[in-house]
Amino acid sequence: MTKRSPSYHTYLQLDRLLDCQLPPSFETGSDLDTRELLHHEELLFIVMHQTIELWFKLVLADLEAARDLIGRPGERDRQVPEDDIPRACSYLHRGAELFRHLTGQFTIIETMAPLHFLSFRDQLIPSSGFQSWQFRELEVLAGLPEAERINFEGKPYFAHMEPERRAGIDRRMKEMSLREAVVDWLARTPVEEAFPGFVDTFLEAHARYIDEQAAHQARNPNLAPEQTAAIRGRFERAKDEARAFFREGDETLRRAHAAFVFISTYRREPLLRWPYALLERALEFEEHFRLFRFRHARMVERMIGLRVGSGGSTGVEYLDATAGKYRIFGDLLHSVSYLIEGARLPVEPPRPDILRFRYQG
Ligand code: HEM
Repeated sequence: MTKRSPSYHTYLQLDRLLDCQLPPSFETGSDLDTRELLHHEELLFIVMHQTIELWFKLVLADLEAARDLIGRPGERDRQVPEDDIPRACSYLHRGAELFRHLTGQFTIIETMAPLHFLSFRDQLIPSSGFQSWQFRELEVLAGLPEAERINFEGKPYFAHMEPERRAGIDRRMKEMSLREAVVDWLARTPVEEAFPGFVDTFLEAHARYIDEQAAHQARNPNLAPEQTAAIRGRFERAKDEARAFFREGDETLRRAHAAFVFISTYRREPLLRWPYALLERALEFEEHFRLFRFRHARMVERMIGLRVGSGGSTGVEYLDATAGKYRIFGDLLHSVSYLIEGARLPVEPPRPDILRFRYQG
């Protein structure tokens, strides 16, 4: 057989790719029998979904690569070689950039008039982005807790999917998630060895800092006495929350939380710069994942108002609920409110010899 040289279109399989923008007719039961587009705008609708699904494919690959670098399944005690952290950072950064890009794409679908969408929308029912199995894989791989999910009509999301579409999601559920990998990696940071008594010292310094803040507010001439009292209560709660952050949850979570604060506090130490960058990239990824949800909900509001979704949900109400509730690293992000400057900690900086062992293997 003669070997063919690749051309632009053979390498990219453009014939196949550009031959699937006509939907199946669904009349004959065969996916090969297609129908004509019902409206000029239907091509936009199809291309938008297809391109976003292609980008989802890349985000999945990047998230998986980042996860494998920091916490390979079955190797929970593995030291992460120093060089792997910048690589994991670049995969997470690209995942965030991809979501930023996808969020920007909603302006393109908004060039379609709502009434034009209505001219073909009925033909789509009951299909919905709700059934995007790659999106569900992304949520599971990122580490969205199943217990946090919002069901509609008492049924979980997979009840709305064809059984053969669930296989990938089931597989992801058995794997380590990105969150688990990050938490595991954090929990292996030898905080107490590098800085004996770190958590107690930190909490004392934090409490002193909060008392200073409360004293400033107590002198605020713009507040009525009952407002000052309410603020004092808020400051006391802030101390309780900081203590709970370090002391509640299982040992892995407690260690991970201590490590998050430790790395953030001493981020300028040369050996902690890349670990800090990794945490920043993980939070950045989640931020853009969430912004995608918010932006999708705004686009949907413009396109269908408060109508029931094509998948049968409450539409915008459901989408806003998931955007507000679904979190991956919410606990880490919220702990930013407990951070205090390192100079407020009255002890020597962490021991580089211990950290070197941890991060350089
Ligand atoms: C006219 C354009 C669109 C409308 C009106 C729309 C509407 C909706 C609605 C109402 C839902 C909630 C489930 C339901 O009842 O159907 C939903 C879910 C979803 N849509 Fe869209 N959508 C549009 C475009 C897109 C695009 C371009 C994407 C990109 C792939 C997308 C991805 C998703 C995803 C992933 C979900 C599941 C979200 C979740 O469960 O949290 N949608 N969409």
